[in-house]
Amino acid sequence: KPIFILNGPNLNLLGKRQPEIYGRATLEDVADACAALAEDLGLSIRFHQSNHEGQIVDWIHQARDEGAGVIINPAAYTHTSVAILDALNAFDGPVLEVHISNVHKREAFRHHSYVSLRADGVIAGFGTEGYQLALRRMATLVKGK
Ligand code: DQA
Repeated sequence: KPIFILNGPNLNLLGKRQPEIYGRATLEDVADACAALAEDLGLSIRFHQSNHEGQIVDWIHQARDEGAGVIINPAAYTHTSVAILDALNAFDGPVLEVHISNVHKREAFRHHSYVSLRADGVIAGFGTEGYQLALRRMATLVKGK
């Protein structure tokens, strides 16, 4: 079963928007790096991005039927979305939360995460390398079962 790697709003602009905060790598670079690492780890992945909350909810539902784990950077929905939290609560496998920036070093409204109420682990402030670190941890979690 694949690992779903889900990305929320504005991450399609990664590498272009606020590079001083998010770096110069694009989301395609991140997807490529994850695909290469997944192959090494013997995992299959589904890598998605949407600017629409409901689409992210739908992918989490898909992961419920077809996925072994979810790695999610919910972006701004981290701080607002009860719907994404509820969807993750309906998913049984491991959930890892990724933030490219260190949200705790930033504005107070970024310090609270709805998704952290469900996540088994959180990575923040490791840049786009955080996705690969999460994937390595996911390999341990799904193989340990
Ligand atoms: C983010 C942090 C969020 O606060 C922000 O809204 C994002 C990206 C990150 O990866 O650092 O869009 O999730």
